[in-house]
Amino acid sequence: MDTKNQILSLRDQLANHNYRYYVLDDPIISDDEYDRLLRELEHLEKQYPDLITPDSPTQRVGAPPLSNFESIPHQLPMLSLENAMNEEEIRAFDKRLKKKIETDEPIEYVAEPKLDGIGIELVYENGMFTSGSTRGDGFTGENITQNLRTIQSIPLRLRTDELPSPDLLEVRGEVFISKVGFESLNRTREENGESLFVNPRNAASGSLRQLDSSITASRPLSTYCYQPGTMRDKVYETHLEFLEDLKRWGFPVNPMIQKVNGVEEAIEYHRDMEDKRNTLPYDIDGTVMKINSLSLQGKVGVRSRSPRWAIANKFKAQQVTTVIQDIMPQVGRTGAVTPVARLTPVFVGGVTVTNATLHNQDEINRKDIRIGDTVIIERAGDVIPKVVKVINEKRNNDTKPYSLPDSCPSCGHDVYRPEGEAVARCQNLSCPAQMKGRIEHFVSKNALDIDGVGNKLVDQLVETSLVQTVDDLFKLTLEDLIPLERMADKSARNTISAIESSKQTGFARFLFALGIRNVGEYLSKVLEKHYEGDFHRFMSSKKKELESIFEVGGIVADGIVRFWSDSSNVDVVNSCFSLGVTLSPVESKEKDQVLAGKTFVFTGVLTKFTRKEAKELVESLGGRASSSVSKKTTFIIAGQSTGSKITKAQEFGVPILSEDDFQKMIHIN
Ligand code: IVH
Repeated sequence: MDTKNQILSLRDQLANHNYRYYVLDDPIISDDEYDRLLRELEHLEKQYPDLITPDSPTQRVGAPPLSNFESIPHQLPMLSLENAMNEEEIRAFDKRLKKKIETDEPIEYVAEPKLDGIGIELVYENGMFTSGSTRGDGFTGENITQNLRTIQSIPLRLRTDELPSPDLLEVRGEVFISKVGFESLNRTREENGESLFVNPRNAASGSLRQLDSSITASRPLSTYCYQPGTMRDKVYETHLEFLEDLKRWGFPVNPMIQKVNGVEEAIEYHRDMEDKRNTLPYDIDGTVMKINSLSLQGKVGVRSRSPRWAIANKFKAQQVTTVIQDIMPQVGRTGAVTPVARLTPVFVGGVTVTNATLHNQDEINRKDIRIGDTVIIERAGDVIPKVVKVINEKRNNDTKPYSLPDSCPSCGHDVYRPEGEAVARCQNLSCPAQMKGRIEHFVSKNALDIDGVGNKLVDQLVETSLVQTVDDLFKLTLEDLIPLERMADKSARNTISAIESSKQTGFARFLFALGIRNVGEYLSKVLEKHYEGDFHRFMSSKKKELESIFEVGGIVADGIVRFWSDSSNVDVVNSCFSLGVTLSPVESKEKDQVLAGKTFVFTGVLTKFTRKEAKELVESLGGRASSSVSKKTTFIIAGQSTGSKITKAQEFGVPILSEDDFQKMIHIN
């Protein structure tokens, strides 16, 4: 055999053994034997580097580190899935579909475990793996090709012994880390004094986002594929047939995937998986049901973010019992002071839990939670565990009631609870616990818009004490920045010059940047108008004057007055002015009417603005805000805990956007 054929034969053998080991879980040679073949191939390739091709098993590792990930558009958007939280919602989904398809017969579905990992897309051109990406925002992802190449179960070349390869094949799937892999990864990290990953999903995400693919290669990543993207020269009748072909091409496909006839069988499958979830080697957070027939999928279609033909059925949150050892106040990045319970560590939903949020004082009172109580806690998905209830039968005499302190545990300033709000807050601009959050907000796009001060830099600036209050940003020099990590001379110069130019700003931007509770972008503009751009007059305004402004209610006025009554806030702002911040008037332009002709309905609990602010924002941009959904509604903006408006929007086919989407829309549009 000549060298070229020898190389080809070794590659085939290795790819085959790899497939047997990682995909079929049925190896036929020992690890030593595999290593021997791989070394032999490496040896030959070293002698004949011209014969190296990207699909060679030797090419999975060793690519040079990147300086950043490029973005890469998805030819077909990567949609996400609508959620069903209980069996009733699963049945409602099936009912909607039956109505749409106009049938009373049971619909044939494919039921799949919903892996709790990271969604990815793999692209194969003429059978060769050419690129791979994260889901990103669904339209554009990050190019993580060289990291994906290191995952042994992802074929570098399609197996074509049973089936030819299409010109173009895009395959979607999930990258994850098994429970065992996660434990051993964290054990190693602990031994090396590195920070631990909280759960397998975060570990998988962190591993995929490494600029140096040799780090990714060292992580125990696995994958299962479950969905097509674009496909050329291939037409299937059913989803299941597509999955069968994926297996023939050598992709790992979850063996628990199953065809079910009708919604009741899908629910049966879901219950069965929920029973099995703790015995599975990887985390799942629900099941997915998809219409099997692709022509029916086409008939029912997709919404802007998710298909109508599939739904994610989420598992109930997992609950366990533990003891509250202590309760501590914690100051968040936005100044919210929340009580956090320190628990006797318990294992729930794949992680060891030591803390649970108690939300606020009202919640503690309502549930009568005391230090020393035995409680039921629950953990759903990625959210912070919460206390469901106290087990009263287990309460003994030495439990202690708890009240949040009146002063901030981080800076000692007064904690203030606005009337009608559940959450107590520290309003001190210089509070250390809030510093990162305050600066990130201060420099953000709609505030002072300081390009080049990203979250990583903010972390460093605060951790090195270079910036302890927002005005410190204006004191930074080149000499301060250059020694920081990832700060080349050029980027340090750019950052300094961006900070310098941000000093020429407007009243409203500067005010919004200060992050006073309830003073959003819209209200900042209103206040600019009322005070005719005179910031000092605004700083010393009385509650009465503020309340005389149509848009300002008593609670907001109270918050503003309290903010300025803290002399350290006044000092920080005056210091900004002494350091060169200048506020000039900004003209509002005709072209700002970007929402003309559009009708918006806001629903659920909004976190970015009050409902009133949202309405006024829409109106100030020429749009209309309505409280009920109809065919005329252009968009629904959904906050948290939404209700019936969403179902209605789905019926009318009105696109549902998040608050983030809305913000993007009004700034990019
Ligand atoms: S199908 C158009 N199938 O769940 C349908 N997704 O919440 C797109 N996921 O972004 C996805 N297991 O990352 C599908 N068997 C499965 C899945 C699955 C996990 C993830 C996926 C997706 C997210 C949607």
